Amino acid sequence: MARSLSVVGGGVIGLSVAWRAARQGWSVRLYDAASGSGASWVAGGMLAPLSEGWPGEEAVLGLGAASLERWPDFGKELETGADVSLFTSTSSLTVALDGADADDLRKIADWVGAQGYDMDIVDRTKIRELEPVLGPKVRLGLLARSELAVDNRLLLDALRQNARAAGVEFTDENVRDLDDLTTDQVVLAAGLGAPRLWPGLPLRPVKGEILRLGTRPGVTPAPTRTIRGTVHGRPAYLVPRANGIVLGATQYETDEDTQVTVGGVRDLIADAEALMPAIGEYELKEAAAGLRPMTPDNLPLIGRLSDRVVVAAGHGRNGILLTPVTADAVVALLDGNTLVEAECANSERFRNVVRKR
Ligand code: GLY
Repeated sequence: MARSLSVVGGGVIGLSVAWRAARQGWSVRLYDAASGSGASWVAGGMLAPLSEGWPGEEAVLGLGAASLERWPDFGKELETGADVSLFTSTSSLTVALDGADADDLRKIADWVGAQGYDMDIVDRTKIRELEPVLGPKVRLGLLARSELAVDNRLLLDALRQNARAAGVEFTDENVRDLDDLTTDQVVLAAGLGAPRLWPGLPLRPVKGEILRLGTRPGVTPAPTRTIRGTVHGRPAYLVPRANGIVLGATQYETDEDTQVTVGGVRDLIADAEALMPAIGEYELKEAAAGLRPMTPDNLPLIGRLSDRVVVAAGHGRNGILLTPVTADAVVALLDGNTLVEAECANSERFRNVVRKR
């Protein structure tokens, strides 16, 4: 008889776990009152573990790189039968607008290179050649040739379709207590909702605002890669889409709402303009805010909480990036195995604060 599994949470993590588990023969029911409406819906979709690397964060880099490596096959499997690609760019370019940023880029390149991953420092002339639409202040760049970008909304659709085709049953029933679920196993993938169902899980919301821009006839073409930079000390990124650009993202530690503020939109547009002066020609299609489920050490929580419950939550800024490695790690845990690459994210590291059952 098929082993039964409840997945609580229908963002990219819950959906991918449900899909992969169903394919392994589990009988899966996914619980979410509004699947795909949280952080997964708002996300930019850049997969940039190397560009976001920083000395001292070896585990974050290793986990992100392990997931990036899985993305091409993971995406291809999801795209089967679809007429559009999930991928909207195949590399990323982080640019420096001043000397301090240029020093940081060299530091990242050296450190990431020492960890065994390839990135290239590129000068102003090369940047002009690669991305002629970037602004005159751009003085140095860091090119990551393997960093893809994914359309998060197409991804949600593809995951839902594939999960359904694999036999996953969807329900919008609200789960109030994991003990109400009668399946053999439970995966808790409810993002910021997870501590309500399992007290003590160390998650906090970090709000982010993001803009979606559309092309218009005659506008300056969008960059062909994901462009990242720091402007006035704030991180800014432009992620290509089939018909425009996603522009992100603000970061607030204190706000727990999903309202879009005037100041946030002002900063996003001003910072993007420093990277790409022609951004003002685009249509402003959407402004949205989401809450990133962050942990104290920027690694997610992927591990066994009890004989029956596995957690997969707390993916912070990297939910889309970490989707494939998390799905593999959770399916391994359900089968009584562990995925070595995801051991650094084992929720056991917070055993002193997470409630036992
Ligand atoms: N994934 C990028 C961000 O959270 O802003």
